[in-house]
Amino acid sequence: MDFKIVSNSPDETIELGRKIGAKLKGGEIIAVCGALGSGKTHLIKGIAAGAGAKDSKDVTSPTFVIVNEYAGRLDIYHIDAYRLDSIEEFEMIGFDDYCGSESVVVIEWADKIESALEGADYIRIELFDAGQSKRKIQIQGAAPYLQTGPVSPPRAIKD
Ligand SMILES: Nc1ncnc2c1ncn2[C@@H]1O[C@H](COP(=O)(O)OP(=O)(O)OP(=O)(O)O)[C@@H](O)[C@H]1O
Ligand SMILES: [Mg+2]
Repeated sequence: MDFKIVSNSPDETIELGRKIGAKLKGGEIIAVCGALGSGKTHLIKGIAAGAGAKDSKDVTSPTFVIVNEYAGRLDIYHIDAYRLDSIEEFEMIGFDDYCGSESVVVIEWADKIESALEGADYIRIELFDAGQSKRKIQIQGAAPYLQTGPVSPPRAIKD
């Protein structure tokens, strides 16, 4: 199921993430794509909070450590692929080991390693800068249970 949402502020992006995070069951892989500063980390902060992570305030781009872990209702593994130079490196950091029925793997800068996800069932979220504090957020491959429905103020527009 694919849908598009317009976020008008950083807080709305966090709120969208929170709505998605609250619906996660475990076992999901979420590929977050988008240019520098498009709002990926804000969205992931919301996802972690919605999934019950107690330390979601600590969500930052894990650019230097590559993987951050937030424990809560589900274990969230936040991988930052920005500095990875190859699919082999992505696999070497233990991507497969992070995937499990009780965990959610969120990959920031997934654009860089997307071919490694071929064949996997993953949710793809791409953020586009739409000027000033507007972001277009496209969600692809989300199972129906993840649909956020029309949310206010962010509005969900079904394709
Ligand atoms: N609607 C919006 N949603 C999210 N962030 C927004 C929005 N409008 C403006 N911003 C600003 O855009 C920036 C997004 O930062 P964030 O760290 O989330 O992006 P990112 O995609 O993770 O960046 P990077 O590529 O450096 O990891 C922040 O400065 C935030 O204040
Ligand atoms: Mg970031």
